[in-house]
Amino acid sequence: MQTLNDIRSSFLSYFKRQGHEIVPSSPLVPRNDPTLMFANSGMVQFKNLFTGVEHRDYQRATTAQKCVRAGGKHNDLDNVGYTARHHTFFEMMGNFSFGDYFKEQAIPFAWEMVTKELGINKDKLLVTVYHTDDEAADLWKKVAGLPDERIIRIATNDNFWMMGPTGPCGPCSEIFYDHGEKYWGGPPGTPEEDGDRFVEIWNLVFMQYEQFEDGTRRELEAQSIDTGMGIERVAALLQGTNDNYATDLIRSLIEASADATSTDPDGAGKTHHRVIADHLRSTSFLLADGVMPSNDGRGYVLRRIMRRAMRHAHLLGAKDPLMYRLVPELVKQMGDAYPELRQAQPLIEETLKLEETRFRQTLDRGLKLLDEELTGLEEGAALPGAAAFKLYDTYGFPLDLTQDALREQGRTVDTDGFDAAMAEQKAKARAAWSGSGEAADATIWFDIADKHGATDFLGYDTEKAEGVVLAVVKDGATAEAATVGDSVQIVLNQTPFYGESGGQVGDSGTLETEEAKVTITDTKKVNGVFIHFGDVTEGTVKPGQAAILEVDHSRRGMIRANHSATHLLHEALREALGDHVAQRGSLNAPDRLRFDFSHSAALSAEEIAQVERDVNAYIRQNTPVETRIMTPDDARAMGAQALFGEKYGDEVRVVSMGRADTGKGPDGKTYSIELCGGTHVTRTGDIGAFALTGETASSAGVRRIEALTGAAAMAELRGRDQSLSEIEGLLKTGRDEVVARVRALLDERKALSNEVAQLRRDLAMSGGAGQGGGTEAKEIGGVKFLAQVLTGVSGKDLPPLIDEHKSRLESGAVLLIADTGGKVAVAAGVTADMTDKVSAVDLVRAAVAELGGKGGGGRPDMAQGGGQDATKADAAIKAAEAVIGG
Ligand code: ALA
Repeated sequence: MQTLNDIRSSFLSYFKRQGHEIVPSSPLVPRNDPTLMFANSGMVQFKNLFTGVEHRDYQRATTAQKCVRAGGKHNDLDNVGYTARHHTFFEMMGNFSFGDYFKEQAIPFAWEMVTKELGINKDKLLVTVYHTDDEAADLWKKVAGLPDERIIRIATNDNFWMMGPTGPCGPCSEIFYDHGEKYWGGPPGTPEEDGDRFVEIWNLVFMQYEQFEDGTRRELEAQSIDTGMGIERVAALLQGTNDNYATDLIRSLIEASADATSTDPDGAGKTHHRVIADHLRSTSFLLADGVMPSNDGRGYVLRRIMRRAMRHAHLLGAKDPLMYRLVPELVKQMGDAYPELRQAQPLIEETLKLEETRFRQTLDRGLKLLDEELTGLEEGAALPGAAAFKLYDTYGFPLDLTQDALREQGRTVDTDGFDAAMAEQKAKARAAWSGSGEAADATIWFDIADKHGATDFLGYDTEKAEGVVLAVVKDGATAEAATVGDSVQIVLNQTPFYGESGGQVGDSGTLETEEAKVTITDTKKVNGVFIHFGDVTEGTVKPGQAAILEVDHSRRGMIRANHSATHLLHEALREALGDHVAQRGSLNAPDRLRFDFSHSAALSAEEIAQVERDVNAYIRQNTPVETRIMTPDDARAMGAQALFGEKYGDEVRVVSMGRADTGKGPDGKTYSIELCGGTHVTRTGDIGAFALTGETASSAGVRRIEALTGAAAMAELRGRDQSLSEIEGLLKTGRDEVVARVRALLDERKALSNEVAQLRRDLAMSGGAGQGGGTEAKEIGGVKFLAQVLTGVSGKDLPPLIDEHKSRLESGAVLLIADTGGKVAVAAGVTADMTDKVSAVDLVRAAVAELGGKGGGGRPDMAQGGGQDATKADAAIKAAEAVIGG
């Protein structure tokens, strides 16, 4: 038997032998096509090669492309499980020529591949060509020897392939397989063509035009080839069936589902198993490509597929979550061809388990409500929209899940009623919101959110992507267009730009449409809408334009490093200081990080050193940074750090990093686990280095740390080192000796300053620096009085000098006036035996008054004061003498 994996390998290796480069499948979320929800054919990743906008170093390529057709224009979701060939996920094999070969070679390649490599019986094959394409018809005749009746000319769009309303296009030729008379159906072009007998297996597109918005077409410079073969269909015919679900790979998933639920794969639950097998593939691949279940955009399509499968698991009687238990079988089947699946296995399992656990909590009650609603209804009547809305709003039933549940009874949903109920709820939410007193100009973002929905954020996985401009806001109002010189805010359907939140600053970068260039200076997020602030530097930007958005990579790289370092810092602080440390605020800018946390005392030098050392140790550990989605409760249960008082939604992102020493860390294994919506490095080593530059008080009980990472940290450390080297040079000593030398210098300095003070006093006592008065005391009214004017001494030197003079005089009074350069210090002393005759306070006051000062005070034996004008020293002495003389 040729397994699906064998077919994939022979296809790719055949075209490799024909000089084609094997190019990996692009991710399911298109990076280069903003109009597409998911990659839905092999050519999507090569779009720009066909139009000649992009060139690569190969002109022939072959791929096995992951495709999802659910949501958007191609939506097969409703039929999955009930038909033989509808899938939400499938693989498209293709060979591509970019201006190299054209139909003359594409047709022989296809024929050889199908009949020789895969060994399909050529008598069972027939082909279609576009009705005017004689060349292709002739080639089929010549190459395949097909008779005219098996070369069918088709005049409809079925044989003119277009990527979308615009873009590369051309006539196509399809290969059909005849499954035989036991199936009903007719050849293409007949009224019975939709039967199961004749099945299209390969489409060859002869790309030769580019279609524009106004309906005109141009001939492409280079004629190209794009082909698409649905691998599941080919596997079916090679395995002798026309049911894709009976092929080896999908059958193994069906059996895994039957095993896990102890049910018959082909019994009453057959449809359930088919739905589960298909949806397991699409959900797992979408999760592996970074889509997470949410209530908007791609995430909501994923959630709808998941929940649809989960209802079928419930109908099979599964008592516990089922989907995640089937992932190992899927990885076994497809993990070699798509390594991203194996890599994301833990994330896929965890997310499926979480979603199913949560959904099961409301599923029973929802189904009960549905039953109640149906009992009153006439047979075949549609379910009222209000009931479907309640199931959606209260029980988490996506509309298509309710429709799927009713399908078995031949009922539908009143979708107009459902839409009306949805609109009413939005209007209520809006009214409640505008009354809440938030900034009035924010209503414009509410309008935009209402009209266009939330922006899809692609920036966890990519920093460059295309988006469609949905709104241009100028001077606070939506505008038709903005031109050079205008400052604008732009909203797109999707963006790789991070909108400022959680302490992480918004991204900057560029936005380019075919007609305009805008420099984006900042990005903010309001109501789920990402607002790009920018200046138009070229042309005119308008809603409807497709734009290439490119984040300033080096700036984002620095922001990422700072944000991840903040997580490591948070944990290092908790280890150094205790579990009371909680985040109180943070800033993750490109050039620095700041972290505020609860802690009452300043950190010691040793604590700071420990924190810096620990963060750097986890950077060097270079372990991967992991992101998971879970409920806030589960996240807290695993020890994740959450922001106190922060309102979290139903789901949170949990970012973990670092392998903790045994027993350490919140879960005993992981160093840091935090709830966080920010962008992070891939491995801790990407942070480069960490340098703590500041530790201060932020407010009462809150400390603030500032730090640098990467090149800035290295520059900081280098700067510190340079200062140290300079000190070594000045001290003429080695690094080991620096501290001892500085300590010795400080001791020496202290000894010297004591010595200087003593010398000054000695000098003063000897009158050497005196400027007035004298060293001899004079007698005034029986009191010995000594007055001196000094320079080179300070106010605080005066009291010891007064004491010294008093003891030398034995009995008497002393007045010292020190000219301290600009100011004058005054002190007076009176020996104890004389204090009843004269008070030191009076002496000081009299002197101070002359010296242009005020007051002065102390005790009768010792007083001090200050003045302004040293030139009045003689008058001050005279005034003191007058006090003594009475
Ligand atoms: N792009 C072509 C298709 O999807 C091959 O059918």
